[in-house]
Amino acid sequence: MDVALAAAHVSIEGLGKTYKSPRGDVVALQTLDLQLPRGAFVSLLGPSGCGKSTLLKIVSGVEAPSSGDIRIGGEVMRGPPDGLGMVFQRDVLMDWRSILDNVMLPVEFLELPRKEYRPKARELLRLFGLGDFMDRYPWELSGGMRQRAAICRALLTDPQLLLMDEPFGALDAFTRDELNLELQKTWLRTRKTVLFVTHSIPEAIFLSDRIVVMAARPGRIVEVIDVDFPRPRPLSVREEPEFARLARHIREIFEATGALGGGDVG
Ligand SMILES: Nc1ncnc2c1ncn2[C@@H]1O[C@H](COP(=O)(O)OP(=O)(O)O)[C@@H](O)[C@H]1O
Ligand SMILES: [Mg+2]
Repeated sequence: MDVALAAAHVSIEGLGKTYKSPRGDVVALQTLDLQLPRGAFVSLLGPSGCGKSTLLKIVSGVEAPSSGDIRIGGEVMRGPPDGLGMVFQRDVLMDWRSILDNVMLPVEFLELPRKEYRPKARELLRLFGLGDFMDRYPWELSGGMRQRAAICRALLTDPQLLLMDEPFGALDAFTRDELNLELQKTWLRTRKTVLFVTHSIPEAIFLSDRIVVMAARPGRIVEVIDVDFPRPRPLSVREEPEFARLARHIREIFEATGALGGGDVG
């Protein structure tokens, strides 16, 4: 096995996805190559429609690619990989189950020993500030608390790869900042490989080791940017000149690819 490939946790090679529809084909992803080093925090940043969710669905095994391969730990992926956690923009908690029982769902799906995982679920919930809310129901919690619970659920079985599709997109700015800090703390503690989707430039810079800037029609990578601020990063890193320089650079890429400007903002 190639040494460089083995070092990458996830290796995406020549990946393409075309959706067939009666109104014509949609090239959601065009020959995309991307490496996720083990333990790295990598963001996909781009406008709506550039194929971010499609890429996550393919990596999770939910959607099949039209071309190309994904290797996980050097092995070509065939179907949903083991050791995968997912968090979506909508928390998809079940309203009729308590927060603790929602966090325990993957244990039930995977038929793992409940006795062993229940204390782990409680500990995770305490760690995420939900210790007093384990027996409450999702509708009794705020959006930020629900999303915390969804993250606990994704982490419970200790997956090595975490896929997050705009997990904080529906939250207010304060809650989003709070959860960005919380996610960074969790990532520093667990060092999971994270593939994180966002369309927020500051969120991507704040969280990532590497930002994959994408463009739409066809969905593709236009630039990969490494971010070197030391960790843990305080929110005030966003006021540093280097942060502003990076943000400007990314905005200029979006302007050049037509994702921003030209009266087509939104
Ligand atoms: N199931 C589908 N059938 C047809 N077209 C789709 C389907 N899912 C996504 N697309 C199209 O593929 C492109 C990429 O979509 P998506 O991956 O959801 O982008 P993003 O998450 O970056 O907003 C869009 O043009 C979208 O309309
Ligand atoms: Mg999406």
